[in-house]
Amino acid sequence: AMDSVESAKKAAAYRAVDNHIKDAYRVGIGSGSTVVYAVERLARQLIINHDLELSDLEITPQLDVAIDGADEADGKLTLIKGGGGCQLQEKIVAAAAKLFVVVADYRKDSSVLGEQWTKGIPIEVIPMAYRTVQLKIEMELGGKAVLRQAKAKAGPVVTDNGNFIVDWMFERAYDWQKVNQQIKMIPGVVETGLFVGMAKIAYFGMEDGSV
Ligand code: A5P
Repeated sequence: AMDSVESAKKAAAYRAVDNHIKDAYRVGIGSGSTVVYAVERLARQLIINHDLELSDLEITPQLDVAIDGADEADGKLTLIKGGGGCQLQEKIVAAAAKLFVVVADYRKDSSVLGEQWTKGIPIEVIPMAYRTVQLKIEMELGGKAVLRQAKAKAGPVVTDNGNFIVDWMFERAYDWQKVNQQIKMIPGVVETGLFVGMAKIAYFGMEDGSV
């Protein structure tokens, strides 16, 4: 049975595709369970008359629209992403797009970051630097920076890019633009899961079926 969260994801993703995707657009897609519905809608809309063509950023470095989920979005559409560990590639895709659209269910809609999403800000780090990055974050910003472990107790999570993930458990609200820059400047940090000023519009599927 499709619960309210699943139908909310689907409604948000369908609406975003219907509103923003036009013929011959170059479209970026992130990862997660919500954008699966965006792909489903895209396929149904476009594949009938036009073959969807798979590309990459080397061949198609400029996108018209990118659609992706988020772990949390605040009132300014500052996002936390990377619950699934894919924030580096997702940020590259989002930054390549003229328009970056977020699709999510009502659980991700937040007034202040950390209100809904309690697993911190995912930060991708070069493996040899993870300890120094952890220490610098904790000393400069407070909170706790935790190396993400694989579920099967097989050691740390390794990203698609061969890196580790440090989840920064922050304890208060920050100027996220500043904090994002500060964390990125720590040697060994590859990318943060903070998306500041990138998303222009978000579609939230609500519990009552509305978007
Ligand atoms: C992947 O690392 C994340 O950034 C996802 O985009 C995010 O976790 C959203 O996933 P859901 O759509 O499954 O909530």
